[in-house]
This record gives sequence, C-alpha cells and structure tokens, in this order.
Amino acid sequence: MKKYTEMDRAELLSERQRIQNEYDDIKAQGYKLDMSRGKPSSEQLRLTESMLGILNKGCDCKTDEGIDCRNYGQLFGLPEARQLFSSLLDIPADNIILGGNSSLNMMYDTVVRAMLYGVPGGDRPWCKLDRVKFLCPSPGYDRHFSICESLGIEMIPVDMTPTGPDMDAVESLVASDESIKGIWCVPKYSNPQGITYSDETVRRFARLECKAKDFRIFWDNAYAVHDLDEEGDSLLNIFRLMQGTDKEDMLYFFFSTSKISFPGSGVAMLALSDGNLAAAKKIIEVQTIGPDKINQLRHVKYFTNAEGIVDHMRLHGMVLKPRFDVVLGTLRKELAPAGIASWTEPKGGYFISLDVADGTAAETYRLAAEAGVKITKAGATFPYGKDPRDRNLRLAPSYPPLRELIEAIHVICVCAKLAYLDKALNV
Ligand SMILES: Cc1ncc(COP(=O)(O)O)c(C=O)c1O
Repeated sequence: MKKYTEMDRAELLSERQRIQNEYDDIKAQGYKLDMSRGKPSSEQLRLTESMLGILNKGCDCKTDEGIDCRNYGQLFGLPEARQLFSSLLDIPADNIILGGNSSLNMMYDTVVRAMLYGVPGGDRPWCKLDRVKFLCPSPGYDRHFSICESLGIEMIPVDMTPTGPDMDAVESLVASDESIKGIWCVPKYSNPQGITYSDETVRRFARLECKAKDFRIFWDNAYAVHDLDEEGDSLLNIFRLMQGTDKEDMLYFFFSTSKISFPGSGVAMLALSDGNLAAAKKIIEVQTIGPDKINQLRHVKYFTNAEGIVDHMRLHGMVLKPRFDVVLGTLRKELAPAGIASWTEPKGGYFISLDVADGTAAETYRLAAEAGVKITKAGATFPYGKDPRDRNLRLAPSYPPLRELIEAIHVICVCAKLAYLDKALNV
C-alpha cells in the first residue's frame, strides 16, 4: 500500500471514501470502550486479593517489634515497611517517609509545603515570590501539570527525547532563571512515552547547577518495578548518586505501591535528604499523628521482602504484556503503512505515546469519542492542555479486557486516518 504522504489527490479522495465507510460502520456498532486512564485491570487487582484477608481474626496487628498498628504513632511509617521500600529501591530507610495511599497526594503536599513554608536553601516561602516556575518535560503526566496550574505555578515545557528530557535546555534554563524552582520527572517508563532516562541524563540531573538555591527535582519513580517482562529497562539510582554531595537537598523522590497492590489503597513514599526530612518533619507532625499503619502492615506481611514484590510484578507483567502487544501490533499493521504516525514501544509502565500527523490529534480524539472510544483528551499531556503541534495522544492499554482493547485500538487507527485525510483534503 502507498503511504498517504505519497498519494495524489484522486488517491486520497478514494482512500477517504473507504475510511469514511469504515468509520460509519464502526459508529453503527455503538461501542462504549474506555482506554483513557492507566488503571490496572480487574485481572491484576485479583493478584493481590488475598492481601485483604491477611490480617485475619487471630492477628493482633502488631509488628515483630511489638508496635501496635491499630494505635497512633510512627509518624514516618512502620519501620518494617520503611525497610521494605528501602531494600526495594536501595534508599536508606531513615530517609524514607511513608504517607497515605497516594504519592500524587504527597507530591501535592510537598509543593504546597514549599509554597507555604519554603524549603532548605531558600530565603522565603515560594508563595512570597513574584513568580514561581516549573520545568515540565512534555509530553508528560497531566496530573503533575494540574498541581502547578492549580497553585499558580508557571509551567515551561521542555522537550522529551528518547533518553529523557532535553538536558541542554534544562541546564541552561535552571542556570539562568532564579524563579525556576522545580522540574517534574517520571524517570522510568515515563507517562506517557514509557521512556527511561539514560545513565547520562540521570548523572546530569544529579549535578545540576541552578540559579535558585531552593530548586527541587520532583522525581516521580511511579513505575520503578513495572517491567512488562525480563527485558525491562534499568535506571540509575539518583538518590545514591546525590546522597552526601552538596546537591542532595535538590531531590524529592516519590514512589508508591498503587500499581503493585491496589490503586487508591496502596502505600505511598517520599524519600528525602536528612536536611529536607528534618524540615518536612516539623510540618508533617503538625498535619498528622501518623499514617495508616494497618495497611502498611498488610503490605509487609503480604510481600515479606523486596524479592516478594519483584516476583509479584512478574505476574503483573504477564497480564500487561499481551495488552501492549495488541496495541503495538495494531498500530504497526494499520498505521505504519499509511506513514502518518509514530509511537513509542515501551518495555514497561502503563502507557504508549502515539504521535499522529501534526494538527490531527484533537480531531482524532473527537472522532474516537463520537464512535464510543474514550482516550485521554488530546492536549492533556502538555502544560495547560495545549499541545503546540496537536499531535500527541496517550494510549492506556491496561484496563479494558483484551477483546475490547482490540476493538478500541482499531477504532483509534481508523480515526487517525480519517483525521489525516480530512485535513489533507481540506474537508
Ligand atoms: C507518573 C505517575 N505518578 C503518579 C501516579 C499516581 O500515583 P498514586 O496512585 O501513588 O497517587 C500516576 C498514576 O497514573 C502516574 O502515572
């Protein structure tokens, strides 16, 4: 088949007729398919079902050291649970704060603490400054951008490359502008591309020279152990790289078990330098008497140790891999011959980033929605919801049953073609 980009007008017109017919047939099916959010499927949730009964009737809810998890205390979490995260991520347990059920919540709180109280190295709370700006590698995670937007933090997009954010741009921006106070990073299996930062990128982050003395890297390692199979990517340990250097306060490291156990009922983590931890403690101890230790105990008893989590994640990979394969196979079969799109082929995480032809993402999204297939809104992967090239779409293969996924991704391919043909033919 000829590429769309090589077709003359008559060929494009006839192809448009063919695809329009296909689209009309799809619409007549009355689909109701949702691949908009990166949620685990019920098959995945079943994998940890027995965790729910692990604190059964005979259990006294005490840890081996005798801490009664039913009662107040342990501001930064159960020692056993901190140790579990410590060995999984190779971060000292003393530098780990376990929070509630959501790392996004901890990110929000961390930004708000900086806004209200400031952070070590700074001379005032960020809210007392005329302007606060964050670098936003884009496409990126829409909820990071929402935090900034909601708090009036100006967002500066930075291009993503196959090895992570464009580090030349990052370095020159943070070196020259004191009002740039932070950057959002999803360093492993980034949302939405599934890119893992190269060793060189991580090293450049670890030695970043910033004009602002209170600059912070928000290192959201949400997909640290979320490989699809044995071939997963590896990521340098930025915490260890920075620990003990004069840059260590620059790092806020986030993680959670949301996509290991239960989203919304997992355990979230923030790892900090000693200085950052002492500063955060003064505020967190006012905010709460302690986190949900019963849930932390459930996680410790269920997984036992880091290997328990790694083994368990193999099962998640086995459920997710066929879903990614279906999406990628369909994109290769249906979109590659037309030559109008490109996409990432991640080795883990929850997303695939699809770039359709410039100026057609919003229309593809609209056509898909009209045909009953919901995907993440076009533009959502960019600050302020504005994709400058209107080309990026985030595909989330995890949630729909395989049969529905096959239908949904076919619909998206047809919509991407129709949007391209309409634009090319100016109809
Ligand atoms: C990059 C990233 N960070 C954080 C989260 C949310 O994490 P949590 O459930 O721990 O709040 C998500 C959820 O999709 C995500 O993709």
